[in-house]
Amino acid sequence: MISGPSFGIRYIRDDEITRQRVRPGTMRRILPYAKRFRGPMVLLLLITAVDSSILAASPLLLRLIIDDGILPHRASTVVALSLAVAGLALIDAAATYVKSWYSAWIGESLVLDLRTQVFAHMQRQPLAFFTRTQTGSLVSRLNNDINGTQQAVGWLLHRSVSMLLNLVLVLAAMFWLSWQLALIALAVIPLFVVPGKLIGKRSQRLLREEMQLQAELATMTTERSNVAGALLAKLYGRPDEEISVFAGKASQIRDIAVASAARMQLLVVAIGLLAACVTALVYGLGGTLVIHGAFGVGTLVAFIALVSQLYGPLNTVSNMAVNAVTALVSFDRVFEILDLKPLITQRPGAYPLPRAEPAVVQVDGVWFRYPAASEVSLPSLESITLPAPERASDASDAWVLRDISFTAPAGKLTALVGRSGAGKTTITHLVPRLYDPVRGTVRIGGQDVRDLTMASLRDTIGVVPQDAHLFHDTIRANLLYARPGAAEQELIQACQAARIWDLIGSLPDGLDTVAGDRGYRLSGGEKQRVALARLLLKAPSVVVLDEATAHLDSESELAIQQALKTALSGRTSLVIAHRLATVRRADQILVIDDGQVRERGTHEELLAAGGRYADLYRTQFASQARD
Ligand SMILES: Nc1ncnc2c1ncn2[C@@H]1O[C@H](COP(=O)(O)OP(=O)(O)OP(=O)(O)O)[C@@H](O)[C@H]1O
Ligand SMILES: [Mg+2]
Repeated sequence: MISGPSFGIRYIRDDEITRQRVRPGTMRRILPYAKRFRGPMVLLLLITAVDSSILAASPLLLRLIIDDGILPHRASTVVALSLAVAGLALIDAAATYVKSWYSAWIGESLVLDLRTQVFAHMQRQPLAFFTRTQTGSLVSRLNNDINGTQQAVGWLLHRSVSMLLNLVLVLAAMFWLSWQLALIALAVIPLFVVPGKLIGKRSQRLLREEMQLQAELATMTTERSNVAGALLAKLYGRPDEEISVFAGKASQIRDIAVASAARMQLLVVAIGLLAACVTALVYGLGGTLVIHGAFGVGTLVAFIALVSQLYGPLNTVSNMAVNAVTALVSFDRVFEILDLKPLITQRPGAYPLPRAEPAVVQVDGVWFRYPAASEVSLPSLESITLPAPERASDASDAWVLRDISFTAPAGKLTALVGRSGAGKTTITHLVPRLYDPVRGTVRIGGQDVRDLTMASLRDTIGVVPQDAHLFHDTIRANLLYARPGAAEQELIQACQAARIWDLIGSLPDGLDTVAGDRGYRLSGGEKQRVALARLLLKAPSVVVLDEATAHLDSESELAIQQALKTALSGRTSLVIAHRLATVRRADQILVIDDGQVRERGTHEELLAAGGRYADLYRTQFASQARD
């Protein structure tokens, strides 16, 4: 299952995601983030300067110890200079520590900003984005990729400046000691940069590939670790195959990581070799110059110490290429998300809906089709649909709603019925602006929803979807999500009105019972009633409700009907009806078929007309009458 070592790098997918280059301007966009830390950065620079000076000064002290202390037999000078070396070491240790702390702080703070920004941006994305995007990819982008920026930035801050300073100071010290030897050292420097350059290019693709694979693994894991996914996997999954798919991807990550590590090592080895050669050259040439009396032994020893210090920073130069690439690719992938313009935004000058309850809902000449992937998401976040062309539903003629017009009168119940896939849920999505119509308008209280603030839309409209979601948290927290300030008594009243208090009150932990992943410890009907209680707490003037289709026993059916009656009374309600009781009670029934309103009227009127509704009644509702 897990493949053996492979030395070539042939497993990179040949798609556009990994081939993508860092977009121009990425560098420029990183700067504003860094700007906020100008003060700490200047401080970092100063500390680094101290640190680097000490590093370059130590070999010079060694030279003095040899030439002025050991050779002329002056013990006091040797002791004094040794103490000076110790003192410098102490300062150096303190400087290094402070330097690490500062660079970590700057790097992490930068990431804090970025991470918060990405999360905030994600929240602004329309529903369409989330229907397209793989959760794991998104989570991975928030974690792995942002960690990538952090590591790279931290590293660059910590090492790159000190490397440059070291290089300059060490070279200056070398020239001061012996310009001939220094020239040799200087001449070979360009050679050190070559291996890093070679590796940097390939690294970018490897890195993207690795990040993409990480995202895929995260997707696999998240999809199978929520209750619904786990249930599906238990019932239909083939564990062995899934494990081998997982292991396949994981071993690709291993191969890439090994390849990257091997490249890094190659770099270190190459540079080590170069450094050793330069050292040998200095030994030979320097030794000869000492014999001919050009300079003293101390100078040679000091010079050799400096050469080894030169080797350190040069090694860093090559690492820097790799880290710079990591930073750029990570930032690029993060910016890619930040650049995604939310399809649905609050327009400038939007105003809140005057809260005159209840409000009439008017749908006027609405045409709608679901947005294409390219409009709402990123290829790298939904690898399943790539690189295949857009699916049929994205074709230009795939209208889901065609010229829909109706009025849901204020305070009245409007029921939507129709066969599966007719477009009922889609219609209800347009009211709270989960999607915007392509043509036509949706008005609440006479105002175009696109002119209203998002906050006032949220306050006005309460939605209970077919499969209501509860966060993995206590029932109390789930209820308070709708109205954080609600008092205990209000919570209980809402639960009572939703006919769920008998159950919650009887639980040992009451409202503090954890509802579990997706509220799985509650039955379907109970969960819907908790969702209704949540709706009641919010007390919206417009209610959009997708009735659960699940078959319910008569007792819980009765409870739900009573709860619904309370929830809907006095509110403008748009209900996708699956229950006989609901359609009977409706003030208006709209029969939706193929994205159009085909019939409208009350239950009795439509039955008498003997059209589509009468057919639907026979197939869908009549059986409930018999129960
Ligand atoms: N996010 C989406 N992207 C693309 N097409 C979609 C999306 N959601 C729904 N559709 C398509 O739009 C059409 C209408 O779907 P809708 O969910 O409105 O049907 P419905 O009347 O609510 O059906 P049901 O009674 O089964 O819930 C269907 O053909 C469906 O495949
Ligand atoms: Mg539906």
